[in-house]
Amino acid sequence: MDQSSSLSRIDWVARSCRLLAATAAEFRNTKPFAGLTIGTGIHLEPKTVALLMTLRAGGADLVCTGNLNSTQPETVDYLRAQGIKVFATQTRDAEEHGASLDAILAEKPDLLLDNGGDLFARVADRPHANLLGGTEETTSGRTRLMPMRDKLNIPILVINDSPIKQFAENRHAVGQSLFESYLRFTNRSTNGKRVTVFGYGACGKGTAACFRNAFAAVSVVDIDPVTTLEAHLDGFTTPPRELAIRSADVLVTVTGYPDIITVADLPSIKDGAILMNGGHFPHEIDVEGFRSSPDVVGVDRYEAEQIETVCMRDGRAFHILGGGHMANLAGPRPLGNTVESMDLGFALQARCLERVAKGGLGKEACVIPVPAEIDALVASAYLDLAR
Ligand SMILES: NC(=O)c1ccc[n+]([C@@H]2O[C@H](COP(=O)([O-])OP(=O)(O)OC[C@H]3O[C@@H](n4cnc5c(N)ncnc54)[C@H](O)[C@@H]3O)[C@@H](O)[C@H]2O)c1
Repeated sequence: MDQSSSLSRIDWVARSCRLLAATAAEFRNTKPFAGLTIGTGIHLEPKTVALLMTLRAGGADLVCTGNLNSTQPETVDYLRAQGIKVFATQTRDAEEHGASLDAILAEKPDLLLDNGGDLFARVADRPHANLLGGTEETTSGRTRLMPMRDKLNIPILVINDSPIKQFAENRHAVGQSLFESYLRFTNRSTNGKRVTVFGYGACGKGTAACFRNAFAAVSVVDIDPVTTLEAHLDGFTTPPRELAIRSADVLVTVTGYPDIITVADLPSIKDGAILMNGGHFPHEIDVEGFRSSPDVVGVDRYEAEQIETVCMRDGRAFHILGGGHMANLAGPRPLGNTVESMDLGFALQARCLERVAKGGLGKEACVIPVPAEIDALVASAYLDLAR
């Protein structure tokens, strides 16, 4: 008898997230979130579904939104079909996204799972009494929330600050997926191309390595001289910033900070250069500044590919991928980071939320790294499945 069935990418990812599947099986018995509502503000794409279903297996009620630009409609449809409340639209409009964030907080969730600090930044000004705390996924979120600690005063565990997240996702997966995205958007080669990577943190290290492994000549620009020395000793060229821009066929920003490439760099950008961003917020490349610069005569848009070609008065033209949004979650068929890296990161998420739900963490745990025993638990579980 034919027992074949037609499945979606969400099903493929769910089947691939073995660590989350094992965690969900445990949560079905232990129910750490029974009676609690978890509000989430994280990319709505297939891998997140695996995390959200794990939290639901633990007894949570869920209210979910996404991040700017990365919401995938099929994922929203899937979650709604599972009876999960979703307030999210595929938007690049900060105000529209803000309305979704407000809708999540209006539900007064007991725990928050944040990505970029959007939810907690609002809670800092408008706290609600039953909020126990939660998790923040990213470097950018941690930077944003650190100055708000006195106002927040609740346990917030920063997944990014786990060594596992640092090496499994930021170092090994972001580079791979940004490299994959360059190919996916452009269908151009990397062989012999000069690539400049801005930022040599965990994400920048993997990005530089992936382009080098694909036969590109890679330069690194980092404002920190110690980090720049590390890039130099890793075998990358580290020219002065202006030269690194002038010579680059591909420019990748992955710093977490705004205005890394701006209109002031217009005179240096090479004819035909491709600009892309891997940092969390779409503020590293000043796309809006380019669009409205008097030195720019027009912008050609390849809508389906989400590529913009900026045409300059002096005849040069350069290209921006995905409007300067995180390229690995933009453009045609965005895949994001590898399933395995997210399985690990999301297992940390699930365990950290379980820990906050249990109580016992005080306000001194506001914006702190993942506790070491959770790292050890997740690492051992992954190794057991890999053996
Ligand atoms: N695309 C993704 O899937 C993904 C995944 C994880 C993290 N991120 C994001 O990537 C960004 C970087 O993360 P990270 O973990 O590598 O951060 P990190 O803090 O480890 O590294 C950032 C590096 O950028 C450098 N830098 C800062 N300002 C700079 C400037 N003006 N010019 C050049 N270099 C500068 C810093 O010195 C540092 O070395 C963050 O926004 C993070 O949220 C994206």
